[in-house]
Amino acid sequence: MNEKDYEFLKMKVKKLAGLSLDAYKGEQMMRRLDGYIARHGYAGVVPFFSAVEKDKEILQQLMDFLTINVSEFFRDNEQFNVLKTRVIPDLLKKSQSLNIWSAGCSIGAEPYSVAMLLDELSPHGKHRILATDLDDKSLARARSGGPYAESHLEQVTKGVMLKNFVKSDEGYTVAPKFLSKVDFKRHNLLNDPFEVGFDLIMCRNVTIYFTEETKETLNKGFAKSLNNDGVLFIGSTESMLDAQSMGLKRMFASFFCKEDSAKANQSSALGMKAKAPAARV
Ligand SMILES: C[S@@+](CC[C@H](N)C(=O)[O-])C[C@H]1O[C@@H](n2cnc3c(N)ncnc32)[C@H](O)[C@@H]1O
Repeated sequence: MNEKDYEFLKMKVKKLAGLSLDAYKGEQMMRRLDGYIARHGYAGVVPFFSAVEKDKEILQQLMDFLTINVSEFFRDNEQFNVLKTRVIPDLLKKSQSLNIWSAGCSIGAEPYSVAMLLDELSPHGKHRILATDLDDKSLARARSGGPYAESHLEQVTKGVMLKNFVKSDEGYTVAPKFLSKVDFKRHNLLNDPFEVGFDLIMCRNVTIYFTEETKETLNKGFAKSLNNDGVLFIGSTESMLDAQSMGLKRMFASFFCKEDSAKANQSSALGMKAKAPAARV
């Protein structure tokens, strides 16, 4: 597809689904869409969109493809282990009512995984888990607690599976007590305002196709939405080189903590004082 085709496609996607593709890396998106359109047997962008406009199912399939909603429980086991053994216990020392946001939660596997950890670590706490996504179909499945395929549960231990999931002919659903622990809402990270006051924000495997500029805007927004000492948890293949300029400090791989700006200023002033004698020598 050429630039003109891509502009036409962006205009159509915006009009039909309200999604602005300006935030996505253009070349990468064009390559993916070329493959998608060819795989589905269309001769080009124009015939493809005449089918999309006539059939809501084809539009939904395109949206699923564009937003890539692959997920699984306890995805990136190593990071989840750090969340369980280091990050959440630290946050619980300060509060027994944590405010958590899973941004780009897809089918709900990520926020339910956190609900399961909290059930183990702080069963009497009064925590809130907000989980948001752009994709209504994923959110509907998330709200019903499934059903999930066995492949979504690959990282789930036998004990957790027996305790927290119910098996049926259709697959696995989360145990009923978890349904009320997560508040699922439709939210577009690119347009909608962010709530503030979070102790933990997870935004994992969502921004990988976004432009660097969009990523920076989102990360700044997340930093603002965190409480002091709150934690941002990103995907294991993602990086954040400009964390410090946003008031975030790397704690462990994939985890960044929001520094209390007053404390940070104080310690940098102390650092300057401590360095002064050395400078005189
Ligand atoms: C690959 S999934 C990640 C799910 C989960 N965070 C994980 O790591 O397993 C990416 C999700 O981001 C959502 N998403 C993409 N663009 C979005 C946007 N602009 N606003 C909100 N959600 C978005 C998609 O709908 C999809 O469900």
